[in-house]
Amino acid sequence: MDIESIKAQIDADIKNVNSFQALEDFRTRYMGRKGAIAQLTATIPALPPQERGAFGQKVNALKTKLLSLVEEKQKSISSGSLETPKETVDITMPGIAQELGHLHPITQIINEICAIFIRMGFSVVEGPEVETEFNNFTGLNIPLEHPSRDAFDTFYLKGHEKLLLRSHTSPVQVRAMKSRRPPLAIVVPGRVYRPDAVDASHLFMFHQIEGFMVDKGIKFSDLKGILEVFAKGVFGEDISMRFRPHFFPFTEPSAEVDISCIICKGKGCSVCGQKGWLEILGSGMIHPNVFKHVGYNPKVYTGFAFGMGIERIAMLKYGINDIRAFFENDLRFLKQF
Ligand code: DAH
Repeated sequence: MDIESIKAQIDADIKNVNSFQALEDFRTRYMGRKGAIAQLTATIPALPPQERGAFGQKVNALKTKLLSLVEEKQKSISSGSLETPKETVDITMPGIAQELGHLHPITQIINEICAIFIRMGFSVVEGPEVETEFNNFTGLNIPLEHPSRDAFDTFYLKGHEKLLLRSHTSPVQVRAMKSRRPPLAIVVPGRVYRPDAVDASHLFMFHQIEGFMVDKGIKFSDLKGILEVFAKGVFGEDISMRFRPHFFPFTEPSAEVDISCIICKGKGCSVCGQKGWLEILGSGMIHPNVFKHVGYNPKVYTGFAFGMGIERIAMLKYGINDIRAFFENDLRFLKQF
């Protein structure tokens, strides 16, 4: 590197410096860690010994020159003797604070529920929101004449009569059982879709968590135990639970699960409709026909399954009376979580 041409470059560059920012750039360019001075200094050890002294002095002189140039410039910029662009920022104006966001309450409660099941050895699995008609219905033993298969109750994809927006997370049972072998303990969070008219308790899209366990010798009492840990984990140790006989095509026997009303503790109030109980999910022992569809021998394997609506769980837990609040993006609502 030629000292003379660097000097010339410095003289040319310093003329164009007319702001503190430009001066700082100039300083780093020549005096920074990778600047010209550092590079020149680094070449000294490679020079013949008799040249080192003279060269070193030149580099030092250059450094002194740079220092005084920078100092001079600094003074002239501060004194305003240079023509600087007119100040356009009103530094007396209050700043705009960047607010830190947080996870959506639905995401928070999904994480909370999944964590409870993960502690009991469950894995979290997800499935696609666009599903085959087979996985959503037939594979789950939902017969052709079942009302939920109707176009009024399910979003079918135009031009693909065998594809639809899943109406529940249960089809992931079929997917997971086909791609894995027992023992299985799986929870499936995700979005589901139904063409419902929107009101305080209905949306065309909401979230569910499906859960199931399959192995040799899984019993209804296993379902009860697991769900009790879940319900107490979410709603508190002092709730009680009951199983009400019900019907689902994909489980036999089937039951709906209620918890004692968290508002009135079971005495009866407007939230529980004076019943003292709140329904939280559907469940049952996996139907042998579901096992047949996925190639499991129902004489060897048994299992339980359950499914719950997340918004409903969140509404009960936090006392929210309108499901639309979750998706209106009103910060006054969201900030409370
Ligand atoms: N898929 C049901 C629904 O969307 C919920 C459900 C009920 C899931 C019982 C299950 C179950 O796995 O065993 O209404």
